[in-house]
Amino acid sequence: MKILGFLGSPRLKGKCSKLLDKALEGAASKSAEIKKFELIKYNIQYCRGCGNCYLKKPELSIGICPLKDDMALILEEYTQADGYIFASPVYDMFITALMKTFVERMIALTYKPPSDHAKIPDARTGIAANFTKMASIIITGNCADELREVMGEPCFESFDGHLMIQQVDTVDTFYVGGLEYMTDEIFEKRLDTAYQLGVRLVEKIEKARQHL
Ligand SMILES: Cc1cc2nc3c(=O)[nH]c(=O)nc-3n(C[C@H](O)[C@H](O)[C@H](O)COP(=O)(O)O)c2cc1C
Repeated sequence: MKILGFLGSPRLKGKCSKLLDKALEGAASKSAEIKKFELIKYNIQYCRGCGNCYLKKPELSIGICPLKDDMALILEEYTQADGYIFASPVYDMFITALMKTFVERMIALTYKPPSDHAKIPDARTGIAANFTKMASIIITGNCADELREVMGEPCFESFDGHLMIQQVDTVDTFYVGGLEYMTDEIFEKRLDTAYQLGVRLVEKIEKARQHL
């Protein structure tokens, strides 16, 4: 079982990063192999919207993108993994531009025949996991937990929609608010919750696969 973590914060030692580390630690405690991608370290260019990746070459697992950057490498690993943990701060009431740029490029994991022009694309053959691949999402913000609906929910909904077309199920959505003035004691509790999120992700994937 391989679980990948994706960090959408540019602050590699910030709280968002620490929460992701804990969640991955939780996954590792259930014997998962883990890997963290600090997205800021990769060359991920903006999608140019040419549609090549999702309209052509259905037989390829990640299609063909004319951009020559690190995305193909990341996506190859992505397709090999079983579960994902996405962690992003809220920037201007949404996920960071860094995480958004990455998510947009994952359109390459989908395919639709040109004749299906008005339809939502499908997960590519071979990637489609019939919802036995799963993901959890951590969103951090300075606004309090009570503002989850305004700050966290738009991020969760966006991920949920995107993951649906990858046929990846969402397990947990965890909004960690009030970061700026959070005491160490409270942050420790949030770290515990993140750890459990990682544990649960592996358990849920294992359970779903028992019924295959
Ligand atoms: C450009 C920018 C925009 C932000 N916008 C919001 C926001 O809309 N809502 C919010 O609750 N926090 C906002 N924040 C605070 C960040 O979400 C917070 O600093 C981050 O979650 C901390 O995590 P990190 O230090 O690990 O990156 C913003 C911070 C920055 C730098």
